[in-house]
Amino acid sequence: MTTAIITGGASGVGKATAAKLHAQGYRVALLDRDADGARNSAGALAPDGATAIALGVDVGDAAAVRDAVEQAVGAFGPVRVLVNAAGVPMAAMPFHEVPAQEWLTSYQVNVMGVVHMAQAVLPSMRAAGGGVIVNVTSVAGQRARAGLSAYCAAKAAADSLTRTLALELATDGIRVNAVAPGSLDTPMFARFLKPGETMEEAMKRYLPQIPLGRMGTAQEMADAVAWLISDKASFITGQIVTADGGRAL
Ligand SMILES: NC(=O)c1ccc[n+]([C@@H]2O[C@H](COP(=O)([O-])OP(=O)(O)OC[C@H]3O[C@@H](n4cnc5c(N)ncnc54)[C@H](O)[C@@H]3O)[C@@H](O)[C@H]2O)c1
Repeated sequence: MTTAIITGGASGVGKATAAKLHAQGYRVALLDRDADGARNSAGALAPDGATAIALGVDVGDAAAVRDAVEQAVGAFGPVRVLVNAAGVPMAAMPFHEVPAQEWLTSYQVNVMGVVHMAQAVLPSMRAAGGGVIVNVTSVAGQRARAGLSAYCAAKAAADSLTRTLALELATDGIRVNAVAPGSLDTPMFARFLKPGETMEEAMKRYLPQIPLGRMGTAQEMADAVAWLISDKASFITGQIVTADGGRAL
């Protein structure tokens, strides 16, 4: 069995991806700062912990990430697959009102979270003879969105990091790609709303911008991630696969 680490495994895309990979026969370690949520997700897959475990960790904390990856490797052996799905949104607000802390948090999780995880798994992946990394970024990294300056910039940085890592790690037999979702029907979506905006108002604002006319699902993102991990995508590296119902067009 192959070991996969999935961040953000307590909810949404990370949870759906962990379930998909587990069903395909992977041993999965679910990392999330929501330790209880990650435990629930892992417990639903393997109540005895034999093939799915949960580790409570903030991906913005490099030392904690190293410890968690060590525990995952200790439990399941060398890591061949890393999926970075943990992320934080920002409430829409004008650029001049965005507090410095919002920028720092967005970068700490959406960019440094990927850096910390990739640095921590690399020795194990190299020892295993190669592997695959998939970063869950956002269409917001490609398409400017008024009110989401920090989030857009952080996700663009994560896309750029994906390409640089792909170039640097190719000779190690490690492919690195990203899935860039559009608006998703997950708990995160509500946290992108403007202050005081209702979900109904947000839908009126968002849906006309999505050519396929609906939100995406966590399952659809998990399917795209699993395809990039699979041998069907064996010659694909450094790519950002946009899964947004056509929104970026
Ligand atoms: N939901 C959307 O509309 C949308 C759109 C585009 C991109 N995305 C991206 O998709 C990814 C998955 O989002 P989702 O929709 O599944 O959201 P979600 O809120 O359902 O899940 C995100 C998970 O990340 C975890 N997390 C957040 N900060 C963390 C940290 N510092 N350390 C560890 N875990 C942390 C949360 O606890 C949560 O379980 C994110 O990177 C997000 O930016 C989401």
